[in-house]
Amino acid sequence: MSGGRLTGRKALVTGGARGIGEAIATALVNAGASVMITDILSDLGKETAAKIGKSGVKTGFAELNVTDDAQWEKAVAATVSELGGYDILINNAGIELTSLLIDIKADDMRRMCDVNIVGTGLGMKHAFRAMKPGGAAGKGGAIVNISSVAATIAYPSIAGYSATKSAVDRMTRIGAMEAGKLGYGVRVNCIYPGLAPTEMGMKLATDIAALGLAADVNAAVASVIEQTPLGRLAEISEIADAAVFLCSDEARFITGIGLPVDGGMGT
Ligand SMILES: NC(=O)c1ccc[n+]([C@@H]2O[C@H](COP(=O)([O-])OP(=O)(O)OC[C@H]3O[C@@H](n4cnc5c(N)ncnc54)[C@H](O)[C@@H]3O)[C@@H](O)[C@H]2O)c1
Repeated sequence: MSGGRLTGRKALVTGGARGIGEAIATALVNAGASVMITDILSDLGKETAAKIGKSGVKTGFAELNVTDDAQWEKAVAATVSELGGYDILINNAGIELTSLLIDIKADDMRRMCDVNIVGTGLGMKHAFRAMKPGGAAGKGGAIVNISSVAATIAYPSIAGYSATKSAVDRMTRIGAMEAGKLGYGVRVNCIYPGLAPTEMGMKLATDIAALGLAADVNAAVASVIEQTPLGRLAEISEIADAAVFLCSDEARFITGIGLPVDGGMGT
């Protein structure tokens, strides 16, 4: 991807300490944006922020549990004051707790709802407030919510997770509608990543094998690959490139979409 297309933009990435969030933060920095990494993993988040910093762009870290309204307020204020604005939100933090429906635990479902749905909703709330005309940053912007291919397929053992990612998809459309109709100057889109070999992705493959849905981890991964027209897992940089595109001016007339980055696995 060409550098500099996000020069001068200021971004906040949730769950940015590792995995897909780290990859997106890195790609934003490479495209010229300043980035505030946020996460519940403070030490790792600080390390990641220091690692991806480049001359000419600022990076910082703010502790943010996305389920906590008050922490959102603080993290957004820190972004505006330390980076000098707020134009981009990547709602990436998420959790996946695998279970067949027959064994589903209420607490696990509630935890996924809290992080994946409430966290994404609060992120949009505080971004709209800060980015809209008259807000603390006030220049509009772009939000990218990380949904999942799980929102577009019926894969066994991820009913709760898929439900929360479908909710992220639907909230994206409503966020785009409200932001457009109410003149916030904010575009809202989501991405459906395919399985990527992060901590979350490999734990899911392990869980699928443990549930007896595949002979072992390799067979679980192979079954996903077999259902993927492009015949491999997603690379985190590919998801990051899509996020940079959706934040850039090249996507200036795109809002309310879900972009699959899944090698063709979903619909
Ligand atoms: N890895 C995949 O195969 C895959 C596929 C599709 C979608 N996704 C989605 O991509 C996003 C990132 O996934 P990943 O694979 O990098 O996972 P990961 O587990 O490697 O990283 C998730 C990050 O989110 C942070 N986090 C968890 N709960 C949090 C909370 N309450 N507040 C703030 N931060 C929190 C974690 O500390 C971690 O740094 C998630 O939303 C996930 O659902 C992942």
